[in-house]
Amino acid sequence: MERFYVSTPIYYVNAEPHIGHAYTTIVADVMNRFHKLMGDETFFLTGTDEHGDKIVQAAQEAGTDPKSYTDRISGLFRDTWPRLNISHDHFIRTTDPEHIRVVQYFLQKVHDSGDIYFSTYKGLYCVGCERFYTEKELVDGKCPDHDKEPVEREEANYFFRMSKYQDWLIQHIESHPDFIRPERYRNEVLAFLREPLEDLCISRPKERLSWGIPLPFDEKYVTYVWFDALINYVSALQYPDGERFREFWPVVQHTIAKDILKPHGIYWPTMIRAAGFAPYRHLNVHGYWKTSEGKMSKSRGTVVRPLDLVPIYGLDAFRYFLLREMVFGLDSNFSEDALVQRLNADLANDLGNLYSRTLAMTAKYFDGKVPPFGAPLDEVDKDLIRHVEEATAHYVEEIPRLGFHKALMKIWECLSAANKYVDHVGPWNLAKDPGQHGRLQTVLRILLELNKTAAVLISPFMPETAEKMLDRLGIPKKALDLRLEDDAAWGTLKEGSPVQKGESLFPRVELRVQQVEQVELKGRKEEKPAGKPAVQQARDASQQPAADKRVEKSQEKPEEKLENISFDAFKQVDLRVGLVKQAEKIPKSKKLLRLTVDIGEERQVVAGIAEYYTPEEMVGKQVVLVANLQPAKLMGVESHGMVLAVRDGDALCLLAPEKPVTPGRRVS
Ligand code: ME8
Ligand code: MG
Repeated sequence: MERFYVSTPIYYVNAEPHIGHAYTTIVADVMNRFHKLMGDETFFLTGTDEHGDKIVQAAQEAGTDPKSYTDRISGLFRDTWPRLNISHDHFIRTTDPEHIRVVQYFLQKVHDSGDIYFSTYKGLYCVGCERFYTEKELVDGKCPDHDKEPVEREEANYFFRMSKYQDWLIQHIESHPDFIRPERYRNEVLAFLREPLEDLCISRPKERLSWGIPLPFDEKYVTYVWFDALINYVSALQYPDGERFREFWPVVQHTIAKDILKPHGIYWPTMIRAAGFAPYRHLNVHGYWKTSEGKMSKSRGTVVRPLDLVPIYGLDAFRYFLLREMVFGLDSNFSEDALVQRLNADLANDLGNLYSRTLAMTAKYFDGKVPPFGAPLDEVDKDLIRHVEEATAHYVEEIPRLGFHKALMKIWECLSAANKYVDHVGPWNLAKDPGQHGRLQTVLRILLELNKTAAVLISPFMPETAEKMLDRLGIPKKALDLRLEDDAAWGTLKEGSPVQKGESLFPRVELRVQQVEQVELKGRKEEKPAGKPAVQQARDASQQPAADKRVEKSQEKPEEKLENISFDAFKQVDLRVGLVKQAEKIPKSKKLLRLTVDIGEERQVVAGIAEYYTPEEMVGKQVVLVANLQPAKLMGVESHGMVLAVRDGDALCLLAPEKPVTPGRRVS
């Protein structure tokens, strides 16, 4: 048994989670689940970074104090991860007393060894990055990441003698080719290191910034955010004496995007060196998710939120898409079209279809019981089985070297080979000939085994789907309890044990007309984040019937059981009775109507009801409107609210007061 330790960055609590954060965290989750599948002992760390100027500013803008603010936003991250099936072992906050203690210990230690000194520094500082920039690093005088001019700052401060470790670091990177990977980022760090490394300013005067960890050797100063934040990776292991530190530190892999390469590739290893322990094993660096507007970022104000997508497309489709679409290390574009294409082609067609036809044929020909290998294997059978073995071997090689998309491609090549095998062998023809009964048994048994292996292999990526698939194959196991060696082994299904066919794993999806909102955080900075999770839930639950476009019977799935919310949370949803004054079809859309609704004031609302209600019959109707939903654009038309409706089978029914009331009255 080996050990494995993966970390994500600890995210700043200056805004809510978006798909960039979700990606890194899901990647770490896939690695963690993969290592568990291999039987390793694992530790998976994520958390939030809560000190510094930037957080104080965000709290001020939200009209609150840093403590309440960080509690709230950290809570948003903490609540998001279980909903994405993240299997972390620990969620660290830099405001945890244990973390603070370790940071102070670390600082004292480096101070004692003479690598921290006091001096004056003048330079250009980017508050967004919380660091000084050299002129050369700026693009047109601006921080390349935040597109803002840095401010000039001069201060007496404490410095970490980073320069002293420059040669050691170059040496270490050169002698450990996969210390920083993929290679392009290793080269980038080596390029930085070709210039003389400056010492790192590690403190801020308390009078300027009190929201930080006090230096143990000078109460008038707090420590610089990066010195505080990076240490989370060891404070979570109870550095320096904890058992976890001894066990897991030697195998640690940090996973980040390229935005924070320098702190992780340079500051952190030199800090570690100064404190006198061995550096991390790998730094895994990925690229950016971009939208049509460029890099998604909180401070630029263009984000896609994972929790907007999951209720529509399903969690596993979302996880699969992120890991299949992005080549680890390179940038990728996020678009809902691409997600829908993958869902339909890879999940509904290849995987879903193979699985459902296998189970349907087992039901039809063998009364839903696992058949024996009734006849010796043919060449085509052997080819297919070899294909599965090879794919499994590739998968086991690719994931540890960050080839997630390749591992998935290998599995999908098998699935499509298996679909071709079905078409080629034609079990329906074998079934007509009693002399071919043994052959038919073998064919179905091979297909059942292949589906089982595929389910186990996809389990780190799509744990829910894997569980569902295995359950119907008669293996009711939790994804986290699966072991590749046992559970993916060929031929282990029990002869005669029942398997069940059921609803399709991934119903096909039409492109949703509503593009996921490009939430403009700018200028609208989170007015009511307190109510967010509840509002979001209410919205997820209610939005489905009216606005989105899952076809087939997907609406008929049993409703997701929602968590209880407080009455206060419910009160955050502003429900109003509205009177429809005008209604018209939106050109080129089959499903959308543009309504003008009187709720005391006039609102333009876009509703996905055109297949059920004509514009004529809408005028004069009373409806119930969610009036404080963030505006969204649907087919280019702004929608300022959402009409409530219930879906019942193929019908859709609008909600309205039981007798007419004054438009604008609040529903409670
Ligand atoms: O930097 N594409 O926190 P942060 C892909 N607190 N990944 C993205 C992304 C995008 N468009 N945007 C963000 C900080 N990420 C520090 C870290 S660690 C000791 C301290 C992900 O909230 C990606 O993992 O700005 C990136 O590195 C991280 O979020 C930055 O998160
Ligand atoms: Mg950032």
